[in-house]
Amino acid sequence: MASKEEKVGNLKPVQIDLILRPFRYDNDTLNDIMGRLHKEMEKGLKKETNPDATVKMLATYVRAVPDGTESGDFLSLDLGGSNFRVLHVHIEKGAKDVRLQSDSYAIPENIMTGPGEQLFDYIADCMAKFLEKIGMKERKMALGFTFSFPCKQRGLDCASLIKWTKGFSAAGVEGEDVVRLLRDAIKRRGDFDTDVVAVVNDTVGTMMACGLADHDCLIGLIVGTGSNACYMEKLDNVEIWEGERGEPNQVVVNMEWGAFGEDGALDDLRTPYDREIDEHSINKGQQIYEKMISGMYMGELVRLVLLEMTKQMLVFGGRTSTELETRGTFQTKYVSEIEEEPIGDMGPTMKILHSLGLKHATETDCGTVREVCRAVSTRAAHLVSAGISAIVNKMGRERVAVGVDGSVYKYHPHFKELMTQTIDKLTHCDVKLMLSEDGSGKGAALVTAVACRLAGKS
Ligand code: BGC
Repeated sequence: MASKEEKVGNLKPVQIDLILRPFRYDNDTLNDIMGRLHKEMEKGLKKETNPDATVKMLATYVRAVPDGTESGDFLSLDLGGSNFRVLHVHIEKGAKDVRLQSDSYAIPENIMTGPGEQLFDYIADCMAKFLEKIGMKERKMALGFTFSFPCKQRGLDCASLIKWTKGFSAAGVEGEDVVRLLRDAIKRRGDFDTDVVAVVNDTVGTMMACGLADHDCLIGLIVGTGSNACYMEKLDNVEIWEGERGEPNQVVVNMEWGAFGEDGALDDLRTPYDREIDEHSINKGQQIYEKMISGMYMGELVRLVLLEMTKQMLVFGGRTSTELETRGTFQTKYVSEIEEEPIGDMGPTMKILHSLGLKHATETDCGTVREVCRAVSTRAAHLVSAGISAIVNKMGRERVAVGVDGSVYKYHPHFKELMTQTIDKLTHCDVKLMLSEDGSGKGAALVTAVACRLAGKS
């Protein structure tokens, strides 16, 4: 008779598959997700239904893309991930790219979650340091502010924060105009001056930056700490638009798709691990689609699946470690590192598992860990592809380029390929994915440059 251990051993692949199956979507499911998102997009764009829509479809005041005649020196700020960046961007007429210099500053958690005034003072402090370093403190430059959170815009330089996402919770900022808060912080210091011309979401910056090289770039996508997309929509379709109508008959819409699912629209697809992530997040019940996709949660999802598999004796001989049981220890970059390994070479995976106190892991365990990473990251790529396909199909063009940025897309070894294949299956359009280096910072400068050109300032 087979021993208990032998029985568990024989059933292992079946049980592992049972746990991972909810992460695997077939074409019908992906088409279904596309349909659900399309409905939400329509709901968000219409005046009457917008208040109840989860996907807010925020109209930006960006209506023109660069035409190549912009030029000058601009400052950009980029706030939205774990680092804050200040950039000096030099744009030359007709160039396909810009020249830039930049510095990155870590944002300590106490600044992310403390009083809002302190956050903006920190931003102004970093700006002063940067301007000092590049010797431009005396020069008043036009500035583009990439602020990567959902904002209700009332003009190109006026944006009130709707809600924080991605681990930020600085007090007293929600409902306020972030451009005013920035201007006030700069004034409080009084040692330099700038002209804040535009505030843009990172998706918009990314789209604009890629638009320099490809004029069909009409979609921007971020798959990094958070996830979101924007696209150029016909003004006639944007009932919620409160600005002037008339030419150009278009406006960039920041979808804020991370919030998709907040009304339960994705409940049948969420796994117990997704629910647990949400349960322990600082924005419970919010950003449901984002929590299934983005880098802030991907590693943690893998950790939770591995814990369950350990409990069921499917990996690590049923023995966990303090590290594996601690939230946030399985970093998202491990997912990319593990999947990057050539099949058969388990070295890097073993190293990661050792660093997590799992010295007893076997080669078979390494294979299982890789399978879990693959299931979680593939689901993310599939969800993002369904989202992009919903936009592409709505736009109805024959060809479109998508400017993409974000650590998950950039560093994961198969993300782009998976997206290309999936979008190809879900649309009839020629879709080109373009990696945007430094897109959000560059893009803010470009939006600023276009605004200056239109105002006759450059
Ligand atoms: C924010 C978006 C942003 C995205 C990517 C989300 O959490 O709500 O505004 O574009 O992250 O950074």
